[in-house]
Order: sequence, then C-alpha cells, then structure tokens
Amino acid sequence: MAKQEVEAKEILEFKRLKVKFAIHKQWLPVVDEVDLKIHAGEIIGIVGESGSGKSVMAQSVLRLRDHGTAVSYEGKILFEGNDLLQSSLSQIRDIRGNKISIIFQDSLNSLSPVHTVEKQLSEVITLHKQVSKSEAKKQSMEMLHLTGIPDPSGCLKKYPFELSGGMQQRVMIAMALACEPKLLIADEPTTALDVTIQEQILRLIKNLNETMGMSVLFITHDMGAVSKLCHRIKVMYLGQIVEDAETEKLFETPLHPYTEGLIGCIPHLETERGNPLPTIPGTVPALSEIPKGCHFCTRCTYAEECCFQEQPPMIEAKQDHFVKCWRYDKFADLKED
Ligand SMILES: Nc1ncnc2c1ncn2[C@@H]1O[C@H](COP(=O)(O)OP(=O)(O)OP(=O)(O)O)[C@@H](O)[C@H]1O
Ligand SMILES: [Mg+2]
Repeated sequence: MAKQEVEAKEILEFKRLKVKFAIHKQWLPVVDEVDLKIHAGEIIGIVGESGSGKSVMAQSVLRLRDHGTAVSYEGKILFEGNDLLQSSLSQIRDIRGNKISIIFQDSLNSLSPVHTVEKQLSEVITLHKQVSKSEAKKQSMEMLHLTGIPDPSGCLKKYPFELSGGMQQRVMIAMALACEPKLLIADEPTTALDVTIQEQILRLIKNLNETMGMSVLFITHDMGAVSKLCHRIKVMYLGQIVEDAETEKLFETPLHPYTEGLIGCIPHLETERGNPLPTIPGTVPALSEIPKGCHFCTRCTYAEECCFQEQPPMIEAKQDHFVKCWRYDKFADLKED
C-alpha cells in the first residue's frame, strides 16, 4: 500500500497508556506509558519477548482484562474520537467484532467445542448485522472462501476439533473479519502452526489488508514474521516501547541493544551446523523486580552507570526513528568499530 494512503487517517491512538495489575497487594505496571498510532490501512508490529506486556496492551483496547483481575488504566485509548477507557461496557461490546476484531494466540481455546463452525460464524454476523439466517450462512461461506479454506460448505458443518490447527486459525480469522472491521488485532496468530501454514496465514492477513484496507495490530515475538508483514515496528520490553521505526530502518540500523539482540536471534540458513543460535543474556525480570533505571540495564552488555540510575527518555534519534536508550549513539559507534 502506498505510504500516502497509510498516513491518511488515524484509526487508533494510545496516549501514555498505563495498565496496572494488583499483584500481591501491589499495583504493578504491565503496560507503562505507551504511545501508539495506527493509521488506516497500516500494519503495525509489536515485538518483544514473553512477558513484555504485548497481550495485555492489545486486550486493553477491548477491555478484555476487566474481569477477574484488579486492573487500573491511565492515559487514553482513542478510537473514532472516543476514549475507550471512558466508554461503557455496552459501548465496547458494540465495537467488539464489529469495528475492532481480535484473533488470539490459541484458536482452539477460543472456539466453542460444542457448536459447529456455521453456528459460531453465523452468530457473529447476525449479532452485528441485520441479516436473515440464510444470508448469514451465505456470508459465512464467503468469509471461509476468502481465508482460503478449500471446501467452505463442508467446513461449516464441522466442529472445531474436526479441523487441523491451520483450519481452526482460518475459521478464527473468518470470524474476526466477518463484519469487516476497521482494525484487526492479531495476537500471535501463527504461534501454534507449522511453518508452511504460518506463511499462508501471514500472506492471508497481508492480502486482506491490501484488498479491504483493514488496519492491523500484529503481535508476535517472531522477528521474521514482522519483517515480512509490517509497515512499522514497535519493540516492547517490560511494558515499555523501547524502539519505534519503519520496518526497513529498524532492521537496517537498530538503535536499541535489545532490538539488536532480537534481530540477532533470527535463525539463518547459513548458520553453521553445531554453532548455537545467539540469545539475549538473562530473562525478562519479574514485574516486582523492574530495575530503577533503564528497564533493560540488567541484561545490556553496553550498560554504563547512568543506565542503572535513571530511565532514558524516548527520543527521535534519527528522522522518524525513536529510541529509549542512554547509549544508543555510543552503541551505534561501537558496532561500526
Ligand atoms: N491477570 C493477570 N494478573 C497478574 N499478572 C498478569 C495477568 N496477566 C498477565 N500478567 C502479567 O503481565 C505481564 C505481561 O503479560 P502478557 O501476557 O501481556 O505478556 P506477552 O508479552 O503477551 O507474553 P507472551 O509473548 O508470552 O504472550 C506478565 O508478567 C504476566 O505475568
Ligand atoms: Mg501474549
């Protein structure tokens, strides 16, 4: 899609979004002052290791974490001019599946095992559109066809457990797209699938983005997948965005040591047999052990004294390329030496 088209209109905006959970009587920030904009037709990728807060952030949009956990929100989530954090749950319900759809990590758990694909797909359509049962069935078939399911009418009669993982994920995508949402949130939609099916699902999302102009928030820890699909990437670590740039720029000149680490972990065909894949040292700290300074300082091989003392601000280090690191320039120099 042309860049001008992508930049035309804002669909969703986070303004200093903060999500805290009450864990062991302490309010801990899982999403920490995140700013984000998605324009019409744009695919934004969110990458980061397990536990960085990607799913909590994505699910806040539809307030899916409001039940069962003590949660507090600060900041704004603007969609069509309304702040979703101030909207009532019935207003949010109208938006869910209609204007904003979400596909989860594990599709089989999200589909009901006791209803056929037809029942589940038609229900989504009749819930949001004034259409007859037979029209809903026709539209269900069309959606399944669009996702590349070979025998849509046969698939409608099946129960989810009769389908392969790839087929289930396609059914989830068909359900998510049935009401032609303006925004699709895809939370690790390919994690549980084998490599060929992963490729097909990524191609499908790209096609739908191009043909329907649908914006996508694509969440993953797979750097290979974001590089193929996304216009822009935001790197998330311990609840914060630490780097933000167009995909090409981010891969060509990563400015944050964490981003470089993630890119370094992508397996390459030419990696010599027997050589272990590089990894980022250590693991993501627990929320109760977030470092005082830069969140990444305890794992960063470039960290200096200042990195342990104070959090760096997010700055525009290069044109339209943002980074949250005290040492990004020294880090870049060190790499060139
Ligand atoms: N209901 C909850 N109560 C308390 N803590 C939670 C809850 N849900 C998530 N967390 C914590 O919030 C942090 C972020 O979780 P989240 O699921 O958003 O991570 P993620 O980046 O999506 O990871 P993954 O790549 O494994 O899906 C984790 O430390 C997790 O333990
Ligand atoms: Mg997740």
